[in-house]
Amino acid sequence: MSNIKGFIFDLDGVITDTAEYHYLAWKRLADDEGVSFSREDNDQLRGVSREASLKLLLKGKVVTDDHFKEMAARKNAYYVDYIKGISPADMLPGVLDILKELKSRGIKISLGSASKNARTVIKGLQVGEYFDNISDGGSVKNAKPAPDLFLHAAKNLGLKPEECIVVEDARSGVEAGLAAGMVVIGIGPAERVGEAQFRYDEPGDIDLSKVLG
Ligand code: BG6
Ligand code: MG
Repeated sequence: MSNIKGFIFDLDGVITDTAEYHYLAWKRLADDEGVSFSREDNDQLRGVSREASLKLLLKGKVVTDDHFKEMAARKNAYYVDYIKGISPADMLPGVLDILKELKSRGIKISLGSASKNARTVIKGLQVGEYFDNISDGGSVKNAKPAPDLFLHAAKNLGLKPEECIVVEDARSGVEAGLAAGMVVIGIGPAERVGEAQFRYDEPGDIDLSKVLG
């Protein structure tokens, strides 16, 4: 019998494909600034906070603090524009069924997203009712791969770390979940999320009977 009582879902790239919008917004900023930026570069930014992502994107280029802040704000303005029209149709296939199944099994559900835009996205997707807690980019100081965000989510659910399963598409998120002492389901290629105890190509492939034991 499984002792799992809670699921903590990452948002971008797990519940919906906003990972693509983050990429497009970073690409636009990189083009503005004359910095090269590929999809491979972008894969390193999955799950990484806005500021840490910008540092990686600049590849050591020296900028003033004001310019740095302005670029972070500009990227966010591009991103906010992309997510304006987000609707229930933007849920990744099968995720809504998983949320429903977890609810029917009495398992608590939290969001564990590094994004400060997480609540806006959840609202657009119209799935707020499924979440017992939302931990987002404003919840803790230390971003993934630190375990803090997932520990914050577990605490708010009233659960111990070992009672929680994290679902993540980012290397930094898998590391954070493992560091928190949780079971982790990785979504994506083994090169990215292979450290997780379970791995699926798509979130809709998750076999709940298998992961819950
Ligand atoms: C994560 C994304 O969920 O949130 C990252 O995977 C993003 O790509 C991070 O940088 C922070 O998001 P935001 O919306 O606060 O800039
Ligand atoms: Mg993600």
